[in-house]
Amino acid sequence: MARRSSVFVCQKCGTNSPKWMGRCPDCSTWGSMIEEIRDSGRDKRSSTATVDPVSITNIPEDSSQRVFTGLEELDRVLGGGMVPGSVILLGGDPGIGKSTLILQILAQLAAAGQKVLYVTAEESMRQIRMRAQRVGSESENLMVLAETDFAAVTEIIRKFMPDTVVLDSVQALYHPDIGSSSGSISQVREIAGGAVALAKGNDITIWLIGHVTKEGAIAGPRTLEHLVDTVLYFEGDSSHAYRILRAVKNRYGSTNEIALLEMTGQGLIQITDPAGLFLPTGGRRSPGSAVVMGVEGTRPLLVEVQALVAQTPFPNPRRTVSGSELSRVLLILAVLDKRAGIQTGGLDVFVNVAGGLKLTEPAADLGLALALVSSVFEKPIIEHTAVCGEIGLAGEVRPVARLEARIREALRLGLTRVIVPATDIDKLPTVKGMEIVPVHSVEDAIEAAF
Ligand code: TYD
Ligand code: MG
Repeated sequence: MARRSSVFVCQKCGTNSPKWMGRCPDCSTWGSMIEEIRDSGRDKRSSTATVDPVSITNIPEDSSQRVFTGLEELDRVLGGGMVPGSVILLGGDPGIGKSTLILQILAQLAAAGQKVLYVTAEESMRQIRMRAQRVGSESENLMVLAETDFAAVTEIIRKFMPDTVVLDSVQALYHPDIGSSSGSISQVREIAGGAVALAKGNDITIWLIGHVTKEGAIAGPRTLEHLVDTVLYFEGDSSHAYRILRAVKNRYGSTNEIALLEMTGQGLIQITDPAGLFLPTGGRRSPGSAVVMGVEGTRPLLVEVQALVAQTPFPNPRRTVSGSELSRVLLILAVLDKRAGIQTGGLDVFVNVAGGLKLTEPAADLGLALALVSSVFEKPIIEHTAVCGEIGLAGEVRPVARLEARIREALRLGLTRVIVPATDIDKLPTVKGMEIVPVHSVEDAIEAAF
């Protein structure tokens, strides 16, 4: 009989210790060591190898047929559809729409004749049914199982042999052999490992749903990324309707693709042409607004950023940023102060990106800077102008990738003037109908913008 022993595991970094400690010796997190019971017989390996190596030329070629999900945007992100036998992790904040998306996909697969199984460990069957009615995803071939015991789920999958399975969510399931509570790092790893074995052994596509937890990534999807084939994150601001589905790992495709979706009253719909969605309405021009030529995945996307710089009634001025990184905005404010003499030290600063989007690429720097300056000056940027460029600490404007694609998209959306980093003059694209203003520094850009 296997001997059981207890071990304390840090829920943040996975470090083990035979005795309890208040603080993890590795990652120094307080209160993260949780007791878990281990069967000492579990990890034993058999000493005799049962498989022989095979010459690489004798391995059958990958003839796996991709399975289409019915959402072309998602298929693109997956690298051309789902690969049977793969495990896909779908992570995101609670309430962002993971269950809704997955239900829509399953319904499409079921309608296309696949045998699909939705395992819900969080919601009741009734709730699932109600959601399916709402998004019009009812289908006879869509089977639902409300179960939290992973061993039972495994047995049912083996018996039922579906083509596609969803485990919603990996944190709500528990494995009876693991002594810790559901959602702990050992539990989620064991379940993900079990899912991988099931998928590979039976050619079943398995989707794992994982919540990104508030405290960074404790026992969240991040700890599972290395186990699965594909990792998708569902991003967005739940107070806005737009969602971005992003591949951060993909063994069967590129990680450059994103899908843009919109949450409506009847579930998620795909946005194939985001033209103008994130631009100022009616071409309105106001102080504090700039149009950034961004790139999301491989797709150019024009987005309005807004800034408000105002007198503060408080002794400590505020810096409130949504849709960008606070540290990036602080850096830009410091550069504006030092290099362009624009002081905001005693003023409140608010920054917002349209539609709940996140502008994380450095190419958005110049847009943020000009929006801030525009608010300080109380003066709108010259009409029909878009900008891009990374800002360095010396106030220089650095080149960005895919400049021509950005400019072409701006032209397509009716903008006529772009402020871009001055790279080698012969590398600068010429785009008919577009006035291109190359700038070397933030000061240049300010001059060009007003
Ligand atoms: P859900 O898929 O349950 O999120 P998750 O599984 O990621 O936790 O979606 C939750 C939100 O989506 C909820 O606030 C309601 C909203 N919603 C819609 O706006 N339209 C819809 O058709 C559906 C099904 C949900
Ligand atoms: Mg859910």
